[in-house]
Amino acid sequence: MGVMGPSHFARNILENERLIVMNISRETRRITPNYNVDPVKLRVRPMSESDINEVYRINKSSFTTDAWSRDAIEREFKLPYSVRFVLESDGKVIGYCVIWLIKGEAFIMSIAIDKNLRGRGLGRYFMEKIIDDLRNRAQTFLLDVRKSNLPAIRLYRSLGFSIVKERKKFYSDGENALLMELRIDRIKENEDKGKTAEAFN
Ligand SMILES: CC(C)(COP(=O)(O)OP(=O)(O)OC[C@H]1O[C@@H](n2cnc3c(N)ncnc32)[C@H](O)[C@@H]1OP(=O)(O)O)[C@@H](O)C(=O)NCCC(=O)NCCS
Repeated sequence: MGVMGPSHFARNILENERLIVMNISRETRRITPNYNVDPVKLRVRPMSESDINEVYRINKSSFTTDAWSRDAIEREFKLPYSVRFVLESDGKVIGYCVIWLIKGEAFIMSIAIDKNLRGRGLGRYFMEKIIDDLRNRAQTFLLDVRKSNLPAIRLYRSLGFSIVKERKKFYSDGENALLMELRIDRIKENEDKGKTAEAFN
């Protein structure tokens, strides 16, 4: 290995700064343009009972045959294995997620972003934060998605989920579901590979 001179360090610092700037500008570009959503004002926090009205509204406008009743949402608060999050922008709830966390498996029961705010990176941001928050308590994330729900399937795939199997006539209208899975050990393996690659550069 050669001796590392100041220029080497300077190059490394510059390289790191460039990466940080690239990451920030990517996130900002995806979330802000024209949509009145300031990424600085985004917050993921546990859902509280005072969020039920907003969660009910977002759920109702996101699902047709499978929408949840207000009672069903209220019941989640009584289940010891139910973990619930909301995504807030400037204090307003713009998304929610309900997960059943049982023996290291996090089953995503329902997730939605406000209809008027979709397609601008918020769903990805929300899921990344949730996965990060639960990664020490869950080894696997699982979910069922309608086979025709391409936006959701693309989002899950881009986060590293893969299709485990197709469940025939899973939904009340007869549509099939895809069961998808994300294994945290696989993410860790990829991160470790990244670190090893960095060490050799
Ligand atoms: C699924 C959902 C949560 C995604 O949230 P979102 O904020 O719209 O998603 P994002 O803007 O973060 O997009 C992330 C990725 O999803 C995919 N995606 C999002 N909208 C898409 C669309 N209309 N068409 C195709 N792919 C789409 C893309 O892969 C996108 O990444 P890219 O922009 O880099 O290509 C949202 O569409 C939603 O609430 N849908 C209704 C409820 C629902 O179907 N929930 C899932 C049930 S399993």
